[in-house]
Amino acid sequence: MAERIMSSFRYRPEILEGVPERLTQNLKQFEDWFVLDAAELKKITDHFVAELEKGLTKEGGNIGFLFNAIQPMNVTWVKSSPSGRELGRFLTLDMGGTNLRVCDVTLSEQKGDFEQTQRKFKLPQEVKSGTGEELWDFVADRLKDFLEENPTGAQDNTSVPLALTFSFPVDQKNIRSGILQRWTKKFEVSGVEGEDIVPQLEAALARKNIPVDVVALINDTTGTMIASHYRDPQIKIGSIFSTGTNAAYMEECRLVPKLEGYGLPEDAKVIINTEYGAFDNDRQILPFTPFDHQIDSESLRPGTQLYEKMVSGLYIGEMLRLVMVKLHEEGRLFQDKDITRLRESNVVDATFLSIAEIDTSEGLDDMRKEFEGLFNFSPAVDEMKVCRYLTGLIATRAARLYACGIAAICKRNNIRECHVGVDGSVFNKNSGFKDRASQGLRDILDWPVGEIDLIALNASEDGSGVGAALAASLALKEADQIKTTIL
Ligand code: BGC
Repeated sequence: MAERIMSSFRYRPEILEGVPERLTQNLKQFEDWFVLDAAELKKITDHFVAELEKGLTKEGGNIGFLFNAIQPMNVTWVKSSPSGRELGRFLTLDMGGTNLRVCDVTLSEQKGDFEQTQRKFKLPQEVKSGTGEELWDFVADRLKDFLEENPTGAQDNTSVPLALTFSFPVDQKNIRSGILQRWTKKFEVSGVEGEDIVPQLEAALARKNIPVDVVALINDTTGTMIASHYRDPQIKIGSIFSTGTNAAYMEECRLVPKLEGYGLPEDAKVIINTEYGAFDNDRQILPFTPFDHQIDSESLRPGTQLYEKMVSGLYIGEMLRLVMVKLHEEGRLFQDKDITRLRESNVVDATFLSIAEIDTSEGLDDMRKEFEGLFNFSPAVDEMKVCRYLTGLIATRAARLYACGIAAICKRNNIRECHVGVDGSVFNKNSGFKDRASQGLRDILDWPVGEIDLIALNASEDGSGVGAALAASLALKEADQIKTTIL
């Protein structure tokens, strides 16, 4: 039996060793849905390259925003990399998918050195689905709490510049402003889409009498790119693999048709925030399974962020849940169990997948604890082995699809070798993710056997702390230079 399984499964058959055939019989179908071979990854990457290219044109591409004609490949107006000699004290706010993080960062004399105090606050669901005013008041209140605990020492905080990391797509005309194109990651706050978020934040800061000066607005990928490059000059891409997924890279302005007419110097460069979570919203190339269709159609914004919904942490848990429920309905899993809790949407998150994958105990004890805690039932070990196998299929597909986005940026920019700074809970917590994504890159880019990873995915942190502080410092320097030129 075990031998039959070993020879018939394409994906890690050893996990299923000893599992009775009645449980494994129709798993083949899941391999057909989730296993992506090198040829498929290459096709997806080539389409990706063309979409990145189109996004830089004046007409814009369809990395996502085809249906309401908003431009993707967002210009961030971060035009230089830090030298490592930046100085000063900065407050930073990071509005990500799950938390609000406040930091006080001091960039010090010594090259590349800094000190940082920080506090994290969970963003409550009601804030994610309330009004803009409630959202920005919440942000301002938390900043106030932080400043009460950690006074800046400045008599008047206006002397302390603040950078906001805002992990959503914005259209920027300069680094001090940004019109929210569209909420992603299950945010649904009214009165913010289509508006410049900086005046909204400033109004809340004024309501709460917090006189700080907002000097920069950046995306989390931009912050990651800057913070990683600060430590490692071989970094050419900053990326997030977390609740959402996205990447940013430094582009030559002369190769960006939509920057024509801005009068930028011939050798100017700028960080582009690809917003590639929205790749293939017009459904040209990604291999959607019935589960992808279901996740999309039941989401707050069907038809948007389709690549992100196949790859990122916010959705892969739900994907596994749908798969387990399907197998239950087909009479394969948990037949004698009450699966009421498992039927609840979003009850499985990405952490469940990480725990399942690292549990090597014979009785899969950690996984069992998760089942008992989350779904109120305890499956047989063989059933959990099947779930572990499915977890691997889903996580591997996510990692290999993630590799397509990174490979596309490299192919488009003729980058043969570089480091990529990757931040995000899913990248950091799922131990297998890096190897799987690297194997994906190897398959797509045909690295010779035995060759080290030419595009290395390196864990990065602090994009929204030190990265944002550096962005603020670069913004202030540029503003000074402009003032000096005008004078
Ligand atoms: C947002 C991006 C962000 C990414 C990772 C996506 O949903 O659109 O702006 O970089 O999530 O946080």
